[in-house]
Amino acid sequence: MENYIDKPMKNTGFRLMSALFVVRDKFSDPMKKIKKAKVKRGDYVLDYGCGPGSFSVAASKVVGDSGKVFSADIHPLSAEKIHKKVLKEALNNIETITTDCYTGLKDNSIDVIICFDMFHMVNDQQNILKEFSRVLKPNAILSLDCHHMKEIESKVVDTGLFKLIEKIDKTYNFIKTI
Ligand SMILES: C[S@@+](CC[C@H](N)C(=O)[O-])C[C@H]1O[C@@H](n2cnc3c(N)ncnc32)[C@H](O)[C@@H]1O
Repeated sequence: MENYIDKPMKNTGFRLMSALFVVRDKFSDPMKKIKKAKVKRGDYVLDYGCGPGSFSVAASKVVGDSGKVFSADIHPLSAEKIHKKVLKEALNNIETITTDCYTGLKDNSIDVIICFDMFHMVNDQQNILKEFSRVLKPNAILSLDCHHMKEIESKVVDTGLFKLIEKIDKTYNFIKTI
C-alpha cells in the first residue's frame, strides 16, 4: 500500500460515500449506465474504481454465468463491501482486486471497462490508460463517466490508444485502437 501513488481515502470517508451511493442508486438506477456502456451477456468487465460496487453488481446481472466482473479499487473496504453484496445476492461471477493501477489481468482479456466517477481522482492518468489498453481486447470498450469529461476526452484520445465512438449523456464510450 505504501508504494501507491494515489492514497486510499480515510475509512470514514469511504463509509460515508458508500451510504450516499445507496441514496444515489435509488434515484438513478446503476443499470442505466451499464446499458449505456454496452455491457452484454457473456462479457468480461472491469469496473475500475468500483467503490462499494453499485455498478459491479448491475454488470454482474447483465453478463450472467458465462461472463465475469472484475471489481478494482484502491480502498480495501471496497472488496469487503462487495463480498457482502456477493453473498447477499448470491452472485458467482465477481472477483475483487485491490490496486491503484496494475490489475494483474491478462492482456487482451476484457470486453468492457467501466470507469465511473473516478478518473478525476487519479494522479497518474497516463499509466492507468496504458493499463486499460493492455487488458482490453482489440476494439473493446472503455466507458468513462466523470466530471470534466471534455478535458478527459482529449487526454484519453491524445494517448493514441483510444478513439471516441459515442457520447450518451455524460457517458463517453471509447474503443481501443491498437
Ligand atoms: C467517487 S468513487 C466512485 C465509485 C464507483 N465507480 C461509483 O460510481 O459508484 C471513486 C472510487 O475510486 C477509487 N479510487 C481512487 N483512486 C483510485 C486508483 N488510483 N485506483 C483505483 N481506485 C481508485 C476510490 O477509492 C473510490 O472508491
